[in-house]
Amino acid sequence: MLTLGIETSCDETAVSVTNGKKVLSNCVSSSVHLHALYGGVVPEIASRFHVEYILEVLSKALKDSDRALKDMRLVAVTNGPGLVGALLTGISLAKSISYSLNLPLIGVNHIHAHLNSAFLNDEDRPNFPFIGLVVSGGHTSLFFSEGVYRQTLLGQTQDDAVGEAYDKVAKILKLGYPGGPVIERRARLSKNRKKVIFPRTYLGKDSLDFSFSGIKTAVLYYVEKLRVTHYGLRVTEINDICYAFQEAALDVLVEKAFLAARIKDVKSIVVGGGVAANSRLRGKFYEAARFGKPVKVYFPKREYCLDNAAMVGVLGEELYKKGHRSDLYLSAEPNLNCGG
Ligand code: KG4
Ligand code: ZN
Repeated sequence: MLTLGIETSCDETAVSVTNGKKVLSNCVSSSVHLHALYGGVVPEIASRFHVEYILEVLSKALKDSDRALKDMRLVAVTNGPGLVGALLTGISLAKSISYSLNLPLIGVNHIHAHLNSAFLNDEDRPNFPFIGLVVSGGHTSLFFSEGVYRQTLLGQTQDDAVGEAYDKVAKILKLGYPGGPVIERRARLSKNRKKVIFPRTYLGKDSLDFSFSGIKTAVLYYVEKLRVTHYGLRVTEINDICYAFQEAALDVLVEKAFLAARIKDVKSIVVGGGVAANSRLRGKFYEAARFGKPVKVYFPKREYCLDNAAMVGVLGEELYKKGHRSDLYLSAEPNLNCGG
């Protein structure tokens, strides 16, 4: 069933054409370079970028898939959570296509779409039930996933999301935005891996919630102390700080995901969202899976970790086949519940 997927919840303008779990095209245009000046996403800039580029991205997605708009049988669009002005651009486009071509319309939860992205274009797919961990710029959430639309929220961040912590630490270190890729790169260059150790926040022995504001503050105090000792940080010091921050943040993610797998007695963990593109995170999960009860860890292909429309189209089609429907009253839900 040819499905047009549309995603505009944050700073990526994305359109896809999918058929079942097969991705025929997946076009993304990002306004990330415009937000880099400010060290984080500026909602007004994101909204204007979506309005300016969405039709071009739509044309490219159709062209790449070698299909026309009239071939589509379903329109799936992210309707939350996200930035309200940004979401509205995608929703308006989806509604106008649905109305003019008389196509069914379905609203998709962005977080559930991230959770589903390990199923895209991949033969080695996880079976339900599994523990789902979504790690992005806006969310750090653990789910017990029993089916495409049966997600129970087990825990989530009480303050910063892990991707947000990467971005804020990069800002403290003046490394630019987004922080994730540059911190990963700089951490790899660290030569003095025992020099700094930042605290890991667990919020109690059996807690499945997260907190990343403490690590970020610890980095800030450490950097301020260094700046008093000598003006400006040395390149090697920045690399060591990146390493220590990344180790602390990722250790907590790994431990909590495996704790959830033990509590729920499941054999699979699925990780999705922008931070899941990180190689050190993948390595730590694979390493942890070698010990204790057998647990298999699944990651999406890297192109489906960051925001994209293919994950929205694929989930939208599954939901449609299970009887879910939206109508032209579909609204943007900036705080859409993640389930549970
Ligand atoms: O899923 P995503 O594209 O957007 C949201 O839904 O938030 O995730 C963006 C986040 C940013 O915070 C970015 O710094 C982080 O993902 N990120 C990474 C990496 N690539 C992107 N974090 C760690 N390592 C990476 N390689
Ligand atoms: Zn996302």
